[in-house]
Amino acid sequence: MEADELKLLFEVFEDTPRQGPGSVESTRRAFRLLPDSLQVERVLDLGCGTGGSTIVLAQESGAHITAVDIHPPFLATLRARADELGLADRITTVCADMADAASLGTGFDLIWAEGSAYSIGFENALHCWRPLLRSGGCLVVTELVWFVAKPDERARAFFADECPDLRDEATRIEQARKAGYEVLGSFRLPAEDWHAYYRGLELPLRDAIARRGERDVYATLRREGRSTKRAAMTTVTSAWSCRSRQTQANRVC
Ligand SMILES: C[S@@+](CC[C@H](N)C(=O)[O-])C[C@H]1O[C@@H](n2cnc3c(N)ncnc32)[C@H](O)[C@@H]1O
Repeated sequence: MEADELKLLFEVFEDTPRQGPGSVESTRRAFRLLPDSLQVERVLDLGCGTGGSTIVLAQESGAHITAVDIHPPFLATLRARADELGLADRITTVCADMADAASLGTGFDLIWAEGSAYSIGFENALHCWRPLLRSGGCLVVTELVWFVAKPDERARAFFADECPDLRDEATRIEQARKAGYEVLGSFRLPAEDWHAYYRGLELPLRDAIARRGERDVYATLRREGRSTKRAAMTTVTSAWSCRSRQTQANRVC
């Protein structure tokens, strides 16, 4: 996507509570997939957006969260939300490229990435991020996947253009294993997480069109909503909890 299109797209999401499908309940559920023995004191939330997951993690874990995103206005919204909730001292926002692992720090107990790994390529993300975990640290990631062998043709055509690296669950799990993680558990996000996400976009999208006029990027967003609805029986976002098999510090890529 061109830079000016991406800017228009980001603008639509600047005040939305989430920038992808998910919910407070799904973030909590994914958190509960982690082993009881995991001490969670330092968390890295990658592609945090306006902090839909960051806030829940701060509330659930009592940990310090480093929340990373490439778009500064998302982080400004997150800081305002954290302030309102009295969580500001436990959340540090960092504007960085999550592909530049060397800039993100190391020794994290937990890396969290809801709907963001795909931005830098799922496999690449898992490889790059593992060295940022301490030995035995965990990664929780959510990613859109096919979950039927023969997906709806129109949905397949849409995602072939917009998300060519879309894979099935078994492939993603195998990729996580190959990248050095032990997969501890998974679940599929409920359809309501998707519906709520698109419902929440209707008003910001209308506002954006009123301000900027009709643009390709807005049409694509609407087409995505329709395709995802059509594809409701064929794609879904899955959440996985993975533990790094790493036993000693690795070189950061
Ligand atoms: C689909 S949104 C998900 C946001 C949030 N995790 C959620 O579930 O609401 C993906 C996020 O990743 C961020 N992002 C995309 N590419 C990035 C990069 N290279 N480095 C850091 N953040 C990035 C976007 O700005 C956006 O906030």
